Amino acid sequence: MTENKKIHKRYTVTAALPYANGPIHIGHLAGVYVPSDIYVRYLRLKNKDVVYICGSDEHGVPITIKAMQEGKSPQEIVDKYHKINKDSFADLGISFDIYSRTSNAVHHETASQFFTTLYNKGEFIERTSMQLYDEKSKQFLADRYVTGTCPHCSFDRAYGDQCENCGTSLSPTELINPHSVLSGNAPVLKETKHWYLPLDKHTPWLSSWILEGHKDDWKANVYGQCKSWLDHGLQPRAVTRDLDWGVKVPLKEAEGKVLYVWFDAPIGYISATKEWAEQKNADLKKSGSDKLIDWEPYWKDVGTKLIHFIGKDNIVFHCIIFPVMLKTEGSFIVPENVPANEFLNLEGDKISTSRNWAVWLHEYLQEFPGQQDVLRYVLTANAPETKDNDFTWKDFQTRNNSELVAILGNFVNRSLVLTHKFFNGIVPESSDLLPNDEEVLKAISEFPERISNSIEHFRFREALNDLMNLARIGNKYLTETEPWKLIKTDEKRTRTILNISLQLCANLAVLSAPFLPFSSDKLYSILNMNKLQWVEAGKPDVLKNGHALNQPELLFAQIEDAAIEKQIQKLNKVKAKNESNAFTTTSAKPMIDFEDFAKLDIRTGTILEAQRVPKTKKLLKLTIDTGIDKRTVVSGIAEDFTAEEIIGKQVCLLVNLAPRNIKGIESHGMILTAEDHDGKLYFICPSSLTRNGSEVK
Ligand code: MF3
Ligand code: ZN
Repeated sequence: MTENKKIHKRYTVTAALPYANGPIHIGHLAGVYVPSDIYVRYLRLKNKDVVYICGSDEHGVPITIKAMQEGKSPQEIVDKYHKINKDSFADLGISFDIYSRTSNAVHHETASQFFTTLYNKGEFIERTSMQLYDEKSKQFLADRYVTGTCPHCSFDRAYGDQCENCGTSLSPTELINPHSVLSGNAPVLKETKHWYLPLDKHTPWLSSWILEGHKDDWKANVYGQCKSWLDHGLQPRAVTRDLDWGVKVPLKEAEGKVLYVWFDAPIGYISATKEWAEQKNADLKKSGSDKLIDWEPYWKDVGTKLIHFIGKDNIVFHCIIFPVMLKTEGSFIVPENVPANEFLNLEGDKISTSRNWAVWLHEYLQEFPGQQDVLRYVLTANAPETKDNDFTWKDFQTRNNSELVAILGNFVNRSLVLTHKFFNGIVPESSDLLPNDEEVLKAISEFPERISNSIEHFRFREALNDLMNLARIGNKYLTETEPWKLIKTDEKRTRTILNISLQLCANLAVLSAPFLPFSSDKLYSILNMNKLQWVEAGKPDVLKNGHALNQPELLFAQIEDAAIEKQIQKLNKVKAKNESNAFTTTSAKPMIDFEDFAKLDIRTGTILEAQRVPKTKKLLKLTIDTGIDKRTVVSGIAEDFTAEEIIGKQVCLLVNLAPRNIKGIESHGMILTAEDHDGKLYFICPSSLTRNGSEVK
């Protein structure tokens, strides 16, 4: 029996928990959040019992590295991005039932218990091994704390857990020429003990579950990756790390160790479901209901269909590691499907957070207010479902102007305007159907099932394309029958045509709801009708004769060239900056003699006072104790540092630079900073406090 024939009592739909170390971009949206939201909104319209889970992934090295780079604590970082991401998802209409976070107490308990259960069942193996250790920072270098050369492709900036160039997953000790991200030093090997999940032991059931059981219903890209992992032979995977940020390993002998982020994060789906049930129950109790809900069936009942929406880089974790955890725990179900998407590129280049090559959701929402559905539409129409795809601003504009505006918006508008003009906005009756009327009614009756079928098979592009085809049929109908001419000669026939057009509009309101929720709401309100369930679509008489419509309002607005140019300019600036950075980091300045260098008098000094220079963005006026004198230096660092935070800081400065007048202030010297690839500044300072005036040579 294939899974499609099973009747499911309820659905648990998860969307990958994004790391709370940066904002959400269009790649995340196209890969995971827009498709999962369409799926869930559809299920709700089918009156299914469904819970839609997401939240912030707040542990792991990506978070602690970001904190280190920004000079903040990991908690400050996750608090900041949790809020930004939660709010921007909500603005885009991503309708999670809960957006939780893995720093919550309930999650720490749940993950810790999960580990204990597996530990007590003897499901882990313990191993002592030699791992990379940074003697200077006194820390083991897990995952991304170490970079070096990839042993497979020779890329020289591979991370300890993965090479981003060739995609191979690595362990830190495999790197050639490793360097600590913390100190830049070459690490040494030091012994440490960890707990491993012996994935190899589970190969037989994984093979029969995936390779035999899901050959037909899992996407080819997902199935293919799983097969390749299984064919290459699975290895034991460490589930603990020597770090201090994360869920503590609940064992006495594991002092100073936390659970590996990929062990705790997927358990976050379960913790979030618990939290959701608690919140719901609190509401239910308040409203006097005695029927409470239980989180457990959503994870433990075989009648539950568990679906994980993820990007392709998460496949092994959701198809192999997490299922092994769920299965060995003993009481959990495993996923029915994991519809992972490929990647979305931007204007031909790989999206990259560190190179700022992305369209950020929070910025889009600000720059295109009220146009959430346009982004949802473009990302679905162009979703990387079967292969990597490209987002371009030109395509964004074309899809808005020639599809949303010209097809869907135009059809609805014509139907409404004509009805207002000829029949005072009252739905006219239809009679004596002709073949072209029948054709439209046939489409109305057939499309809901077609769209359902595509959505249920995770083919959202196809589903959306059919929705647009239905609107195209409407446009063609109006163009062929020309009711604006017909009204002069045949009012009865005009009534029929507009009746049918309006029925089509009402059907579009229902069918567009999963994809374009804001426009669907607008359409319902223009049509002056209550929201319908999916089963009510397909009927030729959704709107009754005599029903009064509201005034038409445009569903979509034209996007002008200027708005698109502005976005392209913005990306061009990013590109220019990236290119100039690449240039300065790869090519050195011309050779100089030692005498040239010896001319520079660089010394340590302490910042005594700092003030913003009025009416400037970048400048701070500093008073510095140079050990020789106290002097004024004007420095262009105000975008990176506040005056308060640098007072008392010891820095290095060039003291024999000729005085310069900057904004009316005489500046005597220059503070030394390092500028990283995205323009962020770092002070160059002695590794520990020294006497002011010490010479740098
Ligand atoms: N934070 C991970 C990423 O962005 C995804 C975690 S999914 C979960 O790649 F299953 F671990 F929650
Ligand atoms: Zn590589």
